Amino acid sequence: MKVLVINESDIKKVFTMEDGIQASKDALEYYSKGESDIPLRTNIDVPEQNGQSLYMPGYASGANALGVKIVSVYPDNIEKGLNSVPATMVLINHETGEVCSIMDGTYLTRIRTGAVSGAATDVLARKDAKIFTLFGTGGQAETQLEAVLTVRDIEEVRVFDISKERTDAFVEKMGEKFADKFNVKIIATDNPDHAVENADIITTVTTSKKPVFDGKLIKKGAHINGVGSYTPEMQEIDDYILCNADKVYVDTRDGVLNESGDFIIPMNEKKFLKDDVTGELGEAIMGKVSSREKEEEITIFKTVGSGVLDIVTAKRIYENAVEKGIGQIIEF
Ligand SMILES: NC(=O)c1ccc[n+]([C@@H]2O[C@H](COP(=O)([O-])OP(=O)(O)OC[C@H]3O[C@@H](n4cnc5c(N)ncnc54)[C@H](O)[C@@H]3O)[C@@H](O)[C@H]2O)c1
Repeated sequence: MKVLVINESDIKKVFTMEDGIQASKDALEYYSKGESDIPLRTNIDVPEQNGQSLYMPGYASGANALGVKIVSVYPDNIEKGLNSVPATMVLINHETGEVCSIMDGTYLTRIRTGAVSGAATDVLARKDAKIFTLFGTGGQAETQLEAVLTVRDIEEVRVFDISKERTDAFVEKMGEKFADKFNVKIIATDNPDHAVENADIITTVTTSKKPVFDGKLIKKGAHINGVGSYTPEMQEIDDYILCNADKVYVDTRDGVLNESGDFIIPMNEKKFLKDDVTGELGEAIMGKVSSREKEEEITIFKTVGSGVLDIVTAKRIYENAVEKGIGQIIEF
């Protein structure tokens, strides 16, 4: 058996954000067509180490993608100088059942999470969008920024994080990183209200438990990507804008309606109903539900992530790595 080991720098050599966005669109279409098998995550507690190990398996027949992402949450690792959320993808050959690749799962998660916002922005945002506001400058922020810059000709990016220090560092780093690739001005803001004023696209990728901006300030025609909230208590997008948006899309109904406070909090207060969801992004991509129809519509896309995004993205990365001879082969 041959196993191809693919690390972060290998992924960067063989897989672009454009590749990621296409993989996300395809993955969500397989999901919404019922052409994937994504069982519930298995969580194993390791109380002796104050840790938890999470197993996210999946199969998407259309992409011949089979595998499991293993993510552990070990907060005490920080004291040992180790990553507190180590993640690894194990890809399996769908024809033989043998493991064919082990891949860095942290970068895989970052690229597929950015890419799915890129896919939603591409499908839903106005084509003439110029101002992009990004909330959050943590581990996921860079790919969120790159994804939106990839699908729209953005002229100005406004960045807001509750930590001014992190905001400034992020703005400086991204300005340098994307200077040659995109013709864009990236600026720090210290006021969330000013940050969303006139913004065409807004992405929230924070750990906030409270809405990060005032939905009443959102202009007509804007598109919002909600990425951060993944527990019933976490809310980044306020009730007002969720209930007043013209169209609301999700990566998966099952995931978002059961996990995200952005939806659960207004649903518990009967302000928002399950049927108010316009559709899954995969349904919009396949034309089963409408996408943006009018310039002045406000659209929202919420993602909590799905194993289908991991396995389809990982399979494409693996195929590219094999074709380009990148990665390290281990035989056993
Ligand atoms: N949807 C998905 O598939 C997916 C995938 C990975 C991570 N996530 C989630 O996305 C979120 C961000 O992930 P990360 O790894 O970047 O986290 P992180 O901890 O590295 O960074 C979070 C950032 O959010 C900032 N923040 C908190 N409250 C804020 C507010 N009110 N306004 C602006 N900024 C605020 C923090 O200061 C911090 O810089 C987490 O909740 C994570 O679980 C979602």
